[in-house]
Amino acid sequence: MSIELKSPREVAALRVAGKMAAETLMLVGDRLRVGMTTDEIDRIVHEDTVRRGARPAPLNYKGFPKSVCTSVNHVVCHGIPGSYALRDGDIVNVDVTTVAEGMHGDTSATFYVGAPSADARRVTEAARQALQVGMSVVKDGARVGDIGAAIQEYIEGLGQGFGIVRDYCGHGTGRRFHEEPSVAHYRQGRDERNARVRMKAGMVFTVEPMINLGTHEVETLGDRWTVVTADRKLSAQFEHTLLVTRAGYEVLTARDGVLRSSEGVVGVSA
Ligand code: MF3
Ligand code: CO
Ligand code: CO
Repeated sequence: MSIELKSPREVAALRVAGKMAAETLMLVGDRLRVGMTTDEIDRIVHEDTVRRGARPAPLNYKGFPKSVCTSVNHVVCHGIPGSYALRDGDIVNVDVTTVAEGMHGDTSATFYVGAPSADARRVTEAARQALQVGMSVVKDGARVGDIGAAIQEYIEGLGQGFGIVRDYCGHGTGRRFHEEPSVAHYRQGRDERNARVRMKAGMVFTVEPMINLGTHEVETLGDRWTVVTADRKLSAQFEHTLLVTRAGYEVLTARDGVLRSSEGVVGVSA
C-alpha cells in the first residue's frame, strides 16, 4: 500500500480544484429552495462546473449518471438526482467533486430545506462537528486511525445514540477520485487497514463522516448507488479535502463565506 505525496505543482492544482468545488457548493446553498428538485441541483452543479472550465467527477464515474450526489433525509450518500422535489423540513447532503487541472476537489455539506425538525438539527450539527473533530487531529506524524478515534469519542460523548457509518470512508484524492489511504470515521482495531499508518506532509485525503440518527447499518437500494440507513432514520454528512502539513493541515475545499441554508440557520445551536 502506497500513499502518494503530492508535488508542489500537484498541490497548486489541488488548490484550484478544491476552491472550485467549494464555490460550487456555496452556490447550491444560495439557490436552495423548498420545492426545488434534486435534478435542479444537478443542473446548477453541472453548469457552474463547466462554466469554470472544469469537469464534474461523478458524471459517468463507474456508471454514476449525474454530476453530483444529492442525499435526502435517510439517504446516507450517493443519492442520484432526479424528480424528487425537496420539502420543507428535509435535509439534503450535496456532494460536489470537481476535476480541474487534472486534480480532484471533493466537498459536501448537509443543507436545511426550510425549517428543520429537532432531529434533523441534532444529527446535522453532530455531523458538522464530527468533521471538525476529525480534521483537528490531522498533522504530519499522526496516525490515520487517530481521525476515526477522535470522531467516535466525540459522537459517543454526545450520548444521543447516533451511529457512525462504517461501510464508507474518507479517501486519498488527486489525479484519481479515490486513492489511498482509506480514512475510517470510527475507532479501528490496531491491525485494521491503515489505522497505524502515519500521515506525512504532502498527503491529500478527505474526511467525510456520515452520522446517523439511529443505527450505523446501511443498505444499498436496487439502483446500485443510493445508500440508505437500515432503519430509514436521518443521516447527515460533511466533507472536506485536506492537505497534510508539518503544522497540521490545509483545507483545500475551504469556503470564503457563510454556507447559506446550512451554517447559521436560525435556531440551530452549533
Ligand atoms: N463524492 C463521493 C465521495 O465523497 C463519491 C461519489 S462517487 C459517485 O467519495 F459516483 F457517486 F459520484
Ligand atoms: Co469523498
Ligand atoms: Co464527496
